[in-house]
Amino acid sequence: MEYRLAIIGFGNVGQGFAEILRDHGHRLLEQFGVRFRIVGVTDPLKGSIHDPAGFDPDDLLDAVRLAGNLGGIDAADRGWDGTEMARLSSADVVVELSYTDLETGEPATGHIRAALEAGKHVVTTNKGPVALHYAELSEMARERGLEIGVEGTVMSGTPTVLNGMNLLRAAGIKRVQGILNGTCNYILTRMEEGSTYDDALQEAQDNGYAEADPTGDVEGFDAAGKVVILANLLMSVPIGMDDVDRTGISGLTPADISAAQGAGERWKLIGTLEPADDGVVASVRPERVPLSHPLASVGGATNAVTYSTELLGDVTLIGPGAGRLETGYSVLVDLLEIHRTSV
Ligand code: HSE
Repeated sequence: MEYRLAIIGFGNVGQGFAEILRDHGHRLLEQFGVRFRIVGVTDPLKGSIHDPAGFDPDDLLDAVRLAGNLGGIDAADRGWDGTEMARLSSADVVVELSYTDLETGEPATGHIRAALEAGKHVVTTNKGPVALHYAELSEMARERGLEIGVEGTVMSGTPTVLNGMNLLRAAGIKRVQGILNGTCNYILTRMEEGSTYDDALQEAQDNGYAEADPTGDVEGFDAAGKVVILANLLMSVPIGMDDVDRTGISGLTPADISAAQGAGERWKLIGTLEPADDGVVASVRPERVPLSHPLASVGGATNAVTYSTELLGDVTLIGPGAGRLETGYSVLVDLLEIHRTSV
């Protein structure tokens, strides 16, 4: 079976996904009997190309590496923006990877609406539309018999969302607690090792974990967006960004870090979600945890989530929360889930 893909946003994640198709396409065909053909790519900086015959992922990657854009690639159609690509392309699935905006969810939400209206499945790693408009978008998809894959919105390719929805919800999720922002966890880890806040943040930016504007990371908005997504998907409680009691890490001083260390504790930016009589209680805040806490040993840019359940007790998933291949992998997982649910 073949799936035709249109990719909106060809930055790190889109290129990471193209690398996965380039390097593992044959194995995916053998293992799952599926082939993924990229028929369209649009990116505000790199250009826009579409061709029903499809593109070789290696050609796309080479063009971006050598020329910085897709201009040299033969294509039937050029110049479509994200909405036009979603609407007009010959794709079965629109892969929405444009930048995250947690205030409006745009332009990604418009792209997703256009894709669904045109009868196309959607896969996205973009937190904006999922944190702000999931109820509307999932209803649009359901009415049309389409799927929206959002695995990469929380902890990149570490299987957090689908595991939670498909395998843990029946166990009765009583609480979710997680280290959901790699930048903050990296900064806190480096400060424990003696680095300054500014140096550690610069390293996180150099390593590519931090968002374009790191305010979203260090003030807890990114983690809050993930808490909202988990509430909406796992607890079916529609909350918004304003419902999360949020404090970031920018107020933590070296003295705070040393004091915790002296007491055998460690600061972590922890997102928490707990059912309450009138919905859920959601928070993101720096917390001092004892070294025996399941999340205390999660260092650097690594993320983790603990699902506390009635039937299984605590289940903790630890893994990457960002990265080119790591987030690209989540796109593949969602595509295979679309394949699994439609055969
Ligand atoms: N900036 C985010 C982080 C990337 O540091 O975790 C993934 O959402």
